[in-house]
This record gives sequence, C-alpha cells and structure tokens, in this order.
Amino acid sequence: MTTVSIARAAEELRKGNLVVFPTETVYGIGALAGNSKAVKKIFQAKGRPQKNPLIVHISSPRELSKLVAEIPEIAKKLMKKYWPGPLTLCFKKSSSLSHFVTAGLSTVCIRCPDHPIARALLKKVAEPLAAPSANLSGRPSATTGEDAKHHFKNRKGIFFLEGGASSLGLESTILDVSTKKPTLLRPGVISKEALEKFLGQKVIIPSSKRISSPGQLLKHYAPKGKLIVLQGSLGKRRKWITHHVRPTSKTVIGVIGKPISGYDCWILSPSEKGYQLYGKNLYRFLNWCDEKMATSIFLELSSSHSDLLPALLNRLQKASRGRIVMLP
Ligand code: TXA
Ligand code: MG
Repeated sequence: MTTVSIARAAEELRKGNLVVFPTETVYGIGALAGNSKAVKKIFQAKGRPQKNPLIVHISSPRELSKLVAEIPEIAKKLMKKYWPGPLTLCFKKSSSLSHFVTAGLSTVCIRCPDHPIARALLKKVAEPLAAPSANLSGRPSATTGEDAKHHFKNRKGIFFLEGGASSLGLESTILDVSTKKPTLLRPGVISKEALEKFLGQKVIIPSSKRISSPGQLLKHYAPKGKLIVLQGSLGKRRKWITHHVRPTSKTVIGVIGKPISGYDCWILSPSEKGYQLYGKNLYRFLNWCDEKMATSIFLELSSSHSDLLPALLNRLQKASRGRIVMLP
C-alpha cells in the first residue's frame, strides 16, 4: 500500500481505487459509494461475502438526502447529539443507492466519523464513501496504520492515509431507526443505556432469530490462534492461568495489570477499573497475536461493570467463538 496525501487519496477514490483511512473507532477501507465497480473491489480485497452490507460514511447530515428514503425525527435528534461520532444509523435506503453497498437490503447504515483525517478526506472527495473496517474478512479490525497495512500488504491499487492509533478502538454502535422502535444492531462505545436515557424510550435488542444485521452472523474479529477469555477477579484469573496454561513459544496472554512471570504477556490495561484503554487496545492485541503466529491465546477480563462491557463482550464472544470462562 502506498502512503499518500489527503488530496491524492481523494484523487485515487475518484479514479475508482480504494483508500484505507483512520477513524476514531477503527480504520476503514473505502471506495466511492456511487461507483459499483470500486465498491466490488472492497469485497475482493477483504474476501468479504457479498451478502454483508457496507456502512456509508459522510461528512455532514446534508449528504443524507441522496442516500436515504426518509429521515425520521428520532434520527434528527440523534445526529444532532452524536454526529460526528461513533454512532451509525440505519435508514430506509433511497432507490438511487447501489445494491452492492447494501447487499440487496432495503436499508442503509450511515456514519459520520469524528477523526480529522477521515473528515478532511470526506470533505475533499465531496462524495459518500462505502467503507467497512480495514481488515481481512473475519479477522480482528485494525486500529493502527501498521495493523491496517499488514492486512493488505500484498494488495496493489490500495492507497493509505496514516492517522496513528484510533482513539476508541471498537467499531461504532449501530442503531436501526428505520423500524417502529429504535433497534440496536451492534453494541459499541455509545451504550444502549446512554441512548435510552437520551431518547427517553426503550431501545430494542433484536432476537437472535431475526437476521437484522447479516454481518453479525458471520465469523468475526477472530485471531488465527485459539482464544480463551478468562473473566473474574485478578486472583482467580492468575490462579487459573498458572494451573492450566503451559508457557510455550506460541502461547500469549493478554493481561490486566502486571505481567505474569514465565509467560509472554501483553498488557491491555494497567488497572482493573475502566474498560476504555482495554477497549482501545483489544484489536491491537489480537493483531499482535496473529503477527506472532500465536496458536494459544488467553485474555484476562475483569468483572467490574461498565457501559462498555456489552460491546466488549460482543466482540470477545465472536473472537473466541464463545470460549469465555467465568471464574466465580
Ligand atoms: O466503526 C465502524 O463502524 C467502522 C468504521 C470503519 O466506520 N466500520 C465498520 O464496518 O465496522 P464493518 O463493515 O466492519 O461493519 C459493519 C456492520 C456489518 O456487521 C454489517 O453487516 C452491518 O454493519 N450493516 C451494514 N449495513 C447494514 C444494514 N443495512 N442493515 C443491517 N446491518 C448492516
Ligand atoms: Mg468489520
């Protein structure tokens, strides 16, 4: 991938090429949403199933009218409060928007990122960008330029904007406002509780039987090695590890607090309290595990409560294929 300026990146997008760019959640890999040929390249580059729709990124709600069929009042309220930021809204799509972007669905997910480089790019190109997370399909998202480059290192025709580490490190919250009642399609940094408090109404969680967000059914966020998450107090976690885990050159442990002597450890957060740093570091850790070709991965999770916990548990459930050991 060639690192370019914002002006060059906008030029390449107009030519139908792909650009990897930073956002405050995770890095995205974008194409002009109006160019179906370019959008198809995203699916190819990621190895992403065609049935998994893409989020469209815009720089201002003013660009909504050409993408959506209607803008409900609840969406106007949410955009005023949370845009630009890590909240994606799902609308009924306009008929002019390509089916390739929405994978044939009648809705479209739209996000207005709050990262100076993403915003500058969107302003420069002056067109909506379809952009999923900048990682190979099924693998952990990239939250640094280095990790994003790693995922696409052998691909030509992809241009790159460096933007350091994403400040949040977890993908946006997705809220469906095209339904009668607002429905949470993906938990994120903006919690269900915060949305309910702000809206003064309940936010629905779709039953797992209803396929409301196709991507949520697929393998996701997973490192190549086998991941086991250990949730409990510091003492219980450490006891479990020393009893059950044999240190080998392919075994790594993501820890909260001090490293465990004799094991190859990566510190996600120095303290048990607060998940912000943990959330920011999670994908860096999982990408690091892949670079090390770790086959056996253990990850500590504290049992303290926070607004961020549902989003983290959602990613960890998928990354570990449900292997979360609760240590009572
Ligand atoms: O933070 C983010 O949202 C990042 C950055 C790059 O903006 N993007 C991101 O995109 O996470 P992606 O493609 O990795 O995840 C988008 C999720 C997928 O699970 C997809 O199935 C779902 O959103 N999605 C997209 N359009 C949808 C729609 N119309 N209805 C339901 N789900 C949709
Ligand atoms: Mg993704």
